[in-house]
Amino acid sequence: MAPEKEVAPKEDGQEEEQVVNPWEVSAGKGGIDYDKLVDQFGCRRIDAALVDRVARITAAPPHRFLRRGLFFAHRDLSELLLDLYERGEKLYLYTGRGPSSEALHFGHLIPFMFTKYLQDVFKVPLVIQLTDDEKFLWKNLTVQECKRLARENAKDIIACGFDIQRTFIFTDFGFVGGKFYENMIQIARCVTYNKAVGIFGFSPEDHIGKVSFPPVQAAPSFPSSFPHLFGDNDQLRCLIPCAIDQDPYFRMTRDVAPRLGYQKPSLIESRFFPALQACGENTKMSASDPNSAIYVTDSPKEIKNKINRYAFSGGQDSVELHRKLGANLDVDVPINYLNFFLEDDDELERIKMEYKEGRMLTGEVKQRLVTVLSELVARHQRARAQVTEEIVDAFMAVRPLPNMFD
Ligand code: TRP
Repeated sequence: MAPEKEVAPKEDGQEEEQVVNPWEVSAGKGGIDYDKLVDQFGCRRIDAALVDRVARITAAPPHRFLRRGLFFAHRDLSELLLDLYERGEKLYLYTGRGPSSEALHFGHLIPFMFTKYLQDVFKVPLVIQLTDDEKFLWKNLTVQECKRLARENAKDIIACGFDIQRTFIFTDFGFVGGKFYENMIQIARCVTYNKAVGIFGFSPEDHIGKVSFPPVQAAPSFPSSFPHLFGDNDQLRCLIPCAIDQDPYFRMTRDVAPRLGYQKPSLIESRFFPALQACGENTKMSASDPNSAIYVTDSPKEIKNKINRYAFSGGQDSVELHRKLGANLDVDVPINYLNFFLEDDDELERIKMEYKEGRMLTGEVKQRLVTVLSELVARHQRARAQVTEEIVDAFMAVRPLPNMFD
């Protein structure tokens, strides 16, 4: 789901080690090994019992991203956060985006769709960080361009339906200062250069802007960074929905929290969203290739074209063979996408079964996906058209949110 990351295959003969960090995702043969990642990072898997528990506590059906295992790993979700929430303790949500491109694709929206569900069922405040500074440091963009992209991306984020009474969106260039900056500097003093290299893999040639950035992404995990929202409550718990490539930032954050007298943030983490051509194996996902993803700005015709032409199929080469052998669902991109976006569990199961047994053809599955995505895109485009500059300003205004827990 880190859609802008290049999922690059290792060359033949090279060591097949997967690398996952905030700036690089490269899979070994056979795609990302999520079990290995969970072990390596030291987070925990979300099992069926935990999904049930979330449903019970929130008195709402679990989001399809949760029931279908797309958000699949966590830190301190069950033992701490849910236990405390059940006993009446409050929490806030924190997520973000690095605004590096104008056009968002579906992979970019997934964390926000999921965060919107969390905000609705927990009825809690949310802070959204737009790291325009991060993109300035990592991409070849001007400060002005990063700021402009942040505002444009904010419109797409707002179009996901966040409640303005409970949501504060900020850009780093616009907001960093005051208590937020105090926290950044306190965090920075707790992390040695060696430790940062160990967590993030910086190299001696990297400029020091990169080395100095992690405290910026860590600071929103602590409520005292937002005095206008949380006053002097520096113990409020924080839950961070994110893609698993962001885990290093928050491993660092959790590590320093006790030393600053703060609570560790909890995490709920997702898999990566596959490119159209990805077959779970060694395919390269390119941010610069417009045919590798469905953008929220695409027309119904473009969506249809891309899916029919580029979506990797696990079906057989000829109809005769397909009827006989059926489809390989594991590598089939349309099934993968339906898994993310078709809400109806029964229909999804039926399609999988029919397709796997060869009674349904790739073209028919693709047709269903085209309909589902076209509806989603149309809805998003309508919602985004309603988001004016004034609305963006209103979400970004540094203001108290008086009824944010009601
Ligand atoms: N670094 C993230 C990106 O490049 C943006 C981000 C900032 C973020 N804070 C976050 C993502 C918190 C998830 C959770 O997209």
